[in-house]
Amino acid sequence: RHHVLSLADFTAAEYNTVLQTAASFQEVLSRRTKKVPTLQGQVVANLFFEASTRTRSSFELAAKRLSADTLNFTASTSSMTKGETILDTAKTYLAMGTDIMVIRHREAGVPNAIAAEMDRLGVKVSVLNAGDGQHEHPSQGLLDLFTICTLIDPNNPRLELLKGKKIAIVGDILHSRVARSNIWSLTASGAQVHLAAPPTLLPKLFAEYIFEEAEANSQHLITSSSPQSPNRQLFIHWQLEPALQDADFVMTLRLQKERMTAHLLPSLREYHQLFGITRTKLQLCNPNVKVLHPGPVNRGVEISSELMDDPEFSLIQSQVTSGVAVRMALLYLLGSSKVERI
Ligand code: CP
Repeated sequence: RHHVLSLADFTAAEYNTVLQTAASFQEVLSRRTKKVPTLQGQVVANLFFEASTRTRSSFELAAKRLSADTLNFTASTSSMTKGETILDTAKTYLAMGTDIMVIRHREAGVPNAIAAEMDRLGVKVSVLNAGDGQHEHPSQGLLDLFTICTLIDPNNPRLELLKGKKIAIVGDILHSRVARSNIWSLTASGAQVHLAAPPTLLPKLFAEYIFEEAEANSQHLITSSSPQSPNRQLFIHWQLEPALQDADFVMTLRLQKERMTAHLLPSLREYHQLFGITRTKLQLCNPNVKVLHPGPVNRGVEISSELMDDPEFSLIQSQVTSGVAVRMALLYLLGSSKVERI
């Protein structure tokens, strides 16, 4: 593989390679000199066509820690405002000697289209999806996995550590590319993955299934028939409590108001009452439960402000910290020798 566009077809071996490489970079980052010369002379271009704080900055920092040269592009101040196309923009960066393109776009499929164009041109440029529309956010999925695995075994993070753990993913699943990447990685690990959302904020397929199969216990199991990743199982709930019951980890998601038409946007007060995660609601979970959120957060909506800042439960800052090591691992594995390392 020389692009990372999705976690849908990641193998267990690939997850473990990323986790172990990230662990070794975490160790590098704990030293006084936090830099290694691994990607010296290579160019990493951050092509962000949609806003970002943490993904963009952590890819930039990761590239710098690996001694790569970085280029940062922002659509609103670029020649796209004069009519240049996305593919022509990518080719412009290619002509400057870019080795790795990190791409975020509000539309699903843009990183895939750029990767396909690079392959068509026969150039050895790697494309990393930094979040495309409602499709996927693979580096976030991997850093969430790394955050959880290093909590369980800091010295040897690996996929198998999640086998049998109950993980609830709560909130605006319909619009969440993070949820999609997390679903692939967590179901690959053998964790029990429970989704909880109002039916209007679930993908149509899940919502229809729930309505067709409505039962008293309000829990539904669906099994994927995808040829790439068959027999992945998901539990779907339209109430929060069964998803939280005995959960080991709770992943909260941002209510993505900017992607919603007015009729989908719930009353924020009611949403917080029904699906917002608070310390009181966590009493249903395993006593050692931890809470994640990819950020940015609507404080007091999907998670209470108090819980977000509570280091006993919240892994939100650890997720951001893990992001640098995980993105170093991805850049290293794709860029260090231009061979298919993962
Ligand atoms: N989690 C995440 O993608 O955050 P940013 O939009 O700030 O990059």
